[in-house]
Amino acid sequence: MDYANITYEAADRIAVITLNRPDKLNALNHDTLVELRDAITIAGESDAVDVVVITGAGEKAFVAGADIRELSAQDAVSGQRFALSGQDVFNRIELCPKPVIAAVNGFALGGGCELALSCHIRLASENAKFGQPEVNLGVIPGYGGTQRLARVIGPGRAAEMILTGDMVDANEASRIGLVNRVVPRGEVLAAAKEMAAKIVSKGQPAVRLSLQALRCVPQMGLREGLATEAALFGISCGTEDFKEGTAAFLEKRAPAFTGK
Ligand code: COA
Repeated sequence: MDYANITYEAADRIAVITLNRPDKLNALNHDTLVELRDAITIAGESDAVDVVVITGAGEKAFVAGADIRELSAQDAVSGQRFALSGQDVFNRIELCPKPVIAAVNGFALGGGCELALSCHIRLASENAKFGQPEVNLGVIPGYGGTQRLARVIGPGRAAEMILTGDMVDANEASRIGLVNRVVPRGEVLAAAKEMAAKIVSKGQPAVRLSLQALRCVPQMGLREGLATEAALFGISCGTEDFKEGTAAFLEKRAPAFTGK
């Protein structure tokens, strides 16, 4: 794929999207967001891809936020459009039918933290730092930060991060549930690929239906969510991979999933 601000590589059923403006700490300008939107759409639709990993180029930053030069030119009307267009890209990531893993390799600030929050799983390098520093610029998070951060770490902790603009380091991010796991510096992409490969080895209809059920959590009450889970469970029981997975267990052999 021919992009100027990101790279897209697919191999072994894993697509890796790398934000690639390391001299600007991978800050999200308009062109980068357009490319990211395109890449996540392609990964979501590609028959050759089961899992997506998003990371940043270089060792310093995952993404240091929205591009502050572009941000500084917004007014009350264009600012709303600015936020909505970023939200649209991150909604597409959250709604990707395939698991998306953030491999956070450094600063994840503002839009970078919001990008990580739109992914389904977050792994962090030990040098990663998370923050919503928008108040330092006199603006509020606009790419989903006020909504997703509160859902992931709770409203009190989200309020502290958003209202003080303070960063949290990788270990603190792990402690408060902002990331799943911290790995040594330089190893986060490999760890994300390893996790992705494990997911690739499973029955993909079950993976995608699980994701669909998990996605209901912030939208539904418990009863409605359980009813949805039961309906999706039923669908998974109708797949060839379900027949294969259960037969393989009973025959004491490894399953040979086909993704059907
Ligand atoms: N938008 C545009 N450019 C950015 C950027 C952003 N969000 N974050 C970093 N950059 C650019 C810097 O302007 C600098 O470019 P230059 O070399 O052309 O001057 C380059 O990336 C390196 O950043 P620099 O600030 O020199 O690195 P640092 O190690 O001193 O500081 C940070 C790192 C992350 C603490 C600092 O860059 C920062 O605070 N960035 C903004 C974070 C932010 O507020 N994000 C939310 C935006 S809504």
